[in-house]
Amino acid sequence: MDPDRRITSLSAVPDDTTFLFTVRNADDERREAVLVRTPDGEVRGWLNYCRHLLDVRLDKGSGAPMRADELVCANHGAYFEADSGFCTFGPCEGATLESVDVAVDDGSVYLVDDDYTFVDTGSLDDGSPSASSTVEF
Ligand code: FES
Repeated sequence: MDPDRRITSLSAVPDDTTFLFTVRNADDERREAVLVRTPDGEVRGWLNYCRHLLDVRLDKGSGAPMRADELVCANHGAYFEADSGFCTFGPCEGATLESVDVAVDDGSVYLVDDDYTFVDTGSLDDGSPSASSTVEF
């Protein structure tokens, strides 16, 4: 794996919330993304934007709320399955989060999506490494 595409260690991806990072797309736009654990222990990557109002971030910098293996949008309560990104409840029910392909290798999580370049961990705002923390919902 390309070390420039290493996002973080697998152990840094929490079980009960999200890990926030930043990518750049082909148009040189920076976007936020999150890593999340699936019920079977795998890791998925999703762009960090709700499918109801597309500028609303799921992880606002301290980890997105999760309940029963689903990410929860704190704005209007949409639920998204961690493994499929599918919205099971809420104003955007039936929509799906935009995926960011990631892969785990030798205890690290890598960005393997050709549409994005890894920028850094953390949000667009802080530009600095940050670890997500548990959010009670
Ligand atoms: S902005 Fe996410 S549910 Fe409305």
